[in-house]
Amino acid sequence: MYKLLFLVLIEVWLPQRALSDPSDASLGDYPYTASLKINSHPYAKAYMHTCGGTILNEEWVLTAASCVDGGTTWETLEAVDVGYVYEFSNARQRIGVDRVVLHPHYNNTQPPSLHNIALIKLDGKITFNESANKIGLPDKGWVPQVARLDFLGWGLRSSLLQHNAVPLLSDKDCMDLIEEYVRDLNGKVPFESETMACTGPDFPDKFIITEGDTGGPLVADGIIYGVLSYRLDFNKRRMEKVPSGVFTEVAPYLSWIIENVGDVN
Ligand SMILES: *[C@@H]1O[C@H](CO)[C@@H](O)[C@H](O)[C@H]1NC(C)=O
Ligand SMILES: *[C@@H]1O[C@H](CO)[C@@H](O)[C@H](O)[C@H]1NC(C)=O
Repeated sequence: MYKLLFLVLIEVWLPQRALSDPSDASLGDYPYTASLKINSHPYAKAYMHTCGGTILNEEWVLTAASCVDGGTTWETLEAVDVGYVYEFSNARQRIGVDRVVLHPHYNNTQPPSLHNIALIKLDGKITFNESANKIGLPDKGWVPQVARLDFLGWGLRSSLLQHNAVPLLSDKDCMDLIEEYVRDLNGKVPFESETMACTGPDFPDKFIITEGDTGGPLVADGIIYGVLSYRLDFNKRRMEKVPSGVFTEVAPYLSWIIENVGDVN
């Protein structure tokens, strides 16, 4: 309930924000980004952003399993919005949800789980044009040959879609960061180098990855590399580090995706 109130307050507050950030995306720059909408009101329809997603083809969207694994009733996924960047504009395509396919090895008993990846089958077709289109899928084992990748999301930090270049960490650095995080929290945060990747702490004064970004894409050259699984909130305890993203890599799940989605080309 507190989380719900927080989300509602943020939505009311955001429109007043100055819209001049260099990380603001323009319509059509990242046409494959999607926003997952839940119904925030128990008695009426009030769509609220909950997570990011990525268009795979006219009828399928990729996201994190932890975004769509049930939760409480008010968190039920209602629709997917595409073809827009400004959250308070009405110009968008809003399409209902037919069904959700969680990865069979995802285990929500102690999130975030490994295999945090899911597919959403829409109950209608996205019309592809300059503002809405599909992402490119990687080849098996593909690793981007760039040091920084683009992370895309509305999160809860902006009413405009944000794009930020974030550094990809080595598995060793990623493990070290997570171990430090786990030690501090005295909890369990899973990481598997074959199927997961991390982006580093960066831009100490900026929140690059926030709540509401989960499920969103990490891309390079128009190809999706990862889906945001969870964040490491270092900033809460140490101001020199900011939230880092831990991503489910897409390439290891290619055959599962194609098995469910069919033709992605
Ligand atoms: C899911 O995780 C919980 C807690 O770690 C474990 O007890 C349970 O057996 C797991 N379920 C499956 C189906 O793997
Ligand atoms: C894309 O198609 C949608 C749905 O038909 C439409 O609302 C939108 O204006 C189109 N956008 C562009 C840039 O053509």
